Amino acid sequence: MCGIFGFVSRRELPVALVVDALRTLEYRGYDSWGIAYEVPESVGTYLAVFKQAGRLPPKLPPLPTSPIALGHTRWATHGGVTDENAHPHLDCTATLAIVHNGIIENYRPLRETLERTGHHFRSDTDSEIFAHLLEDSLERAMTESRLSESPDLLVEAVRQAFAQIRGLNAFIVLHLPSRQLVAVKSTSPLVLGIGTDGVFVSSDAVALVGHADRIYYLRDDEVALLSPDGPRLFDRCTGEPRQPQWELLTLRPADTSLGGFPHYLIKEIHEQPRVIKRILRERLEDARQLAELIQRSYGTFFVGCGTAGYAALCGSYLFSRIARRHVNAVIASEFKYQEHFLTDRSLVIALTQSGETVDVIEAVQAAKRRGATVAALVNVTGSTVARLADFTVPLSAGPEQSVLSTKAYTAKLAILLLVAHILNGSEHVGIDVLWRAIDGMEQALAPATLDRIRAVAEHLVDAEHCYVIGRGLSYPTALEAALKIKEVTYIHAEGFAGGELKHGVIALIQDGSPCLVFSPLDETRPDILSGAMEVRSRGGWIIGISPEPDEAFHVHIPIADVGDASPLVTIVPAQLLAYELAVRRGLDPDKPRNLAKSVTVK
Ligand code: AGP
Repeated sequence: MCGIFGFVSRRELPVALVVDALRTLEYRGYDSWGIAYEVPESVGTYLAVFKQAGRLPPKLPPLPTSPIALGHTRWATHGGVTDENAHPHLDCTATLAIVHNGIIENYRPLRETLERTGHHFRSDTDSEIFAHLLEDSLERAMTESRLSESPDLLVEAVRQAFAQIRGLNAFIVLHLPSRQLVAVKSTSPLVLGIGTDGVFVSSDAVALVGHADRIYYLRDDEVALLSPDGPRLFDRCTGEPRQPQWELLTLRPADTSLGGFPHYLIKEIHEQPRVIKRILRERLEDARQLAELIQRSYGTFFVGCGTAGYAALCGSYLFSRIARRHVNAVIASEFKYQEHFLTDRSLVIALTQSGETVDVIEAVQAAKRRGATVAALVNVTGSTVARLADFTVPLSAGPEQSVLSTKAYTAKLAILLLVAHILNGSEHVGIDVLWRAIDGMEQALAPATLDRIRAVAEHLVDAEHCYVIGRGLSYPTALEAALKIKEVTYIHAEGFAGGELKHGVIALIQDGSPCLVFSPLDETRPDILSGAMEVRSRGGWIIGISPEPDEAFHVHIPIADVGDASPLVTIVPAQLLAYELAVRRGLDPDKPRNLAKSVTVK
């Protein structure tokens, strides 16, 4: 996925404002970046474009002011990482600039036709197609109407061009002659913002903080025309005007700044206790309503990807232990191969931080096609999944800007644990155990624990492989811990169910093989410790994450005993270890290679 942003104003604003927005959106992709803006010139304005492969440099040469500008930070899909393939892309007249998030699935035939009719391409991306399609549509619309000044012409042209492309896409178009932006999307997110300085549009509301005080999440069947006098909305199919329902932008600079931390990852790890307190304060009624939906359903599915998928798996263990209820936990990308037994009494609960993960969107759409009820545990409340769901429980985690998901993970676990206790008629127990988990998380974040984790990081800094084992509630934790380590340190970390060691995994163990062992004081302890001893006796180096020490451990990371809430606490040392290892290996903890915060393309 990519980050796109634009503004238009009655007066000239610093073009650097777009660059700052791109830095906020870099978590969406950072292969290349670019900006385009109007340069007022005595003999007529022109579009200045600056773009390059690689991440945004820490400092840029001074940039001018301009009344209109847009920018893009890229996660490459079609076309290599080169300066030419960086966005923005221009049409042949260099009066239209576009930035794009998504994939134009039918770009090949469209490009062949455009090239045959004389269009000259400068890149080998799919995105550039749209600039030339729009150029043709605009020329046609102007010829047919001969009202070349009508602002709606541009909307008409965008509607026609957008109707020709297939796939999940979002575009911002800059039209120099009319000094207007147009925003249009299908599934990929776009949010409009109005502030005292002008009108803004962004892939994510976090980039509107400090600029807009009111926002509106653009719908798939709408087109937005942004001019210095303000935004106008149109129906994308009929062209009829529409009235947006603006909402206040509640995010504040403190929500999106580093807050004194060196990276978002460590900031968001430390925010976790506060997030669980907010959930206890704000989400109880939502949890009760979700419990009712589950009570009424016949067949409940938890669906998610990556970290959210592991939260789904952990949820299935929590529901079994606490509510004595069977829930199917399914990886979202596999859901469409298992949807056959869905009925209109099924309940599909999507777990997703961004609400824009394409595999989750497709799973939700499949569920709705079969008449199932859809609920969502989602952090970005204006997102596609939040809008598709019949019932949404906000995670209340605040913006999660590191590519690694941490506070959104433990937020999902907290809500699922609450719902399980509500179903069991023991809501008060759920609340109490979450308060214990908050204390346990704070203890895991204390300097004494951190010192031990840093010592482990020093020992592992050059490791190539790392094994992580857990049983029961700690099995999803083992998977999530391994994901945290592998995605930010590039160490080949793998999580396993402790019982799987003897079925093949143990063949991998050699002298010095590091192995994280999760051993809360629950029914899994005797077996997971014997597994740890088997690894140790074959040369493994054992890091025990447990309330109690054990002879199997070379190093013991002490954590609080918090009963069923153990997954919220045991994951914290693993998150911290991943962070400390990444920093020691000279890697960016917030923007790992090849990854993006939300996978909005397949
Ligand atoms: C987690 O650290 C990863 N960034 C990734 O697995 C992520 O959890 C997954 O892509 C799902 O994202 P979502 O929660 O926004 O749907």
